[in-house]
Amino acid sequence: MEEDFVEKILLGASVFRDERSLFPEFLPQKLPRREKEISRLATDFRPLIQKKGSFAINVAITGTAGVGKTAVARYCGKHIENAAKKKGVAIKFIPYNAHTFRTKTSILRNLLTDHFNVTARGFSDEEILGMLVKRLEKDDMRLIVALDEANLLGSDEILSIIHASEVFGIERSRISTIIICRRTEWRAILNAPLSGHIHDQINIPGYTRSELVDILTYRAQLAFNPGVISEEIIEMVAEIASQTQNARHGIEILLRAGKMADYEHFSEINAEMVRRAKVGVYPELRPDVLDDLNDHELLTALGLARRLKHHGITATTINEAYKYYQIACEEKGVRAQSMSAFRKYVNHLDSVGIIGKAVGPLGRGRRGRRARITFYDLPATVLEERVLRILELNNKK
Ligand SMILES: Nc1ncnc2c1ncn2[C@@H]1O[C@H](COP(=O)(O)OP(=O)(O)OP(=O)(O)O)[C@@H](O)[C@H]1O
Ligand SMILES: [Mg+2]
Repeated sequence: MEEDFVEKILLGASVFRDERSLFPEFLPQKLPRREKEISRLATDFRPLIQKKGSFAINVAITGTAGVGKTAVARYCGKHIENAAKKKGVAIKFIPYNAHTFRTKTSILRNLLTDHFNVTARGFSDEEILGMLVKRLEKDDMRLIVALDEANLLGSDEILSIIHASEVFGIERSRISTIIICRRTEWRAILNAPLSGHIHDQINIPGYTRSELVDILTYRAQLAFNPGVISEEIIEMVAEIASQTQNARHGIEILLRAGKMADYEHFSEINAEMVRRAKVGVYPELRPDVLDDLNDHELLTALGLARRLKHHGITATTINEAYKYYQIACEEKGVRAQSMSAFRKYVNHLDSVGIIGKAVGPLGRGRRGRRARITFYDLPATVLEERVLRILELNNKK
């Protein structure tokens, strides 16, 4: 072993020009193919810059996973701040993710301590709010607070954040919001009081293959050295990501494939690396696909997920799956349908791409070649969790 081999790696060549530009938190300078949504959001917030007086604007951004909701909000937020500065207006864009900040209180406290340098400890919510409002008035400043993954806050907390700034009179409210939420979750939390406060709702559609080609071409330019990735390889990644319409899916594959090239000392990314990278990336299942399923199709998916969740099992038969479906029905207090109905549900799940069907050996010491049911690269536990949530929501309706 050469003594300096670690240094050789550390100082050696890479396919990446800037690997970090493919990391999840990176916000690119441009968001190709989102011009329409960005213009609409900017138009919604234009009054904050052009009109005097205090008022709030609340906009919801919805859409499935990886369609650019967070990116569009942050991109616009940055430009709103810049444009306001040019007009001599003070506007601050402050993004919060409800994973980290779960309540109105934690958000208000953080606003005050981190962004206005005021200690919030020992004060009640009302007092904090009072201080914040006073401070905003004194500085003649407006805030746009993004509430990302807002479903984790729930409608009551979101409303109380919107109301917070109205406590001292609607005409004094200086806190606007951008509420970001996946579409299924948004439907679950939207109620009349909340919807009464939303001025606009922008639903962002999933990306098509050709849109993904443009986006991934741009992201690859930022991330890789020239000559590392060809147009054909980008098209291949776009094709894979178009199944979920999710840009994150494609970006993660680019990152993993690039890492593989580096690990194995290749100077180019090839199709084999993409195929291998794809297996490790679990695109979030499009929630709207599950939305459109009826209860028995959901119970079928639940049974399959539970069957395939077991270690080492990648495929199952229709008979085996039927048993798990029956158990799921029993658990939910629903009468199980006949085998022939069950076959129809399985076929439907196949046609919408939740499961796959193949003919081949069953594997792991189980004999026989039969039609078998598989999941694509979606983990069974993820499917189980999503299906249970939707069944619960349907139950509440
Ligand atoms: N039009 C685009 N151009 C370049 N990159 C994009 C574009 N749209 C999305 N991305 C990138 O794709 C990834 C996913 O986007 P983003 O995080 O905004 O999705 P999201 O809709 O908020 O998803 P989630 O519901 O999972 O939070 C990010 O890395 C983002 O930078
Ligand atoms: Mg997001």
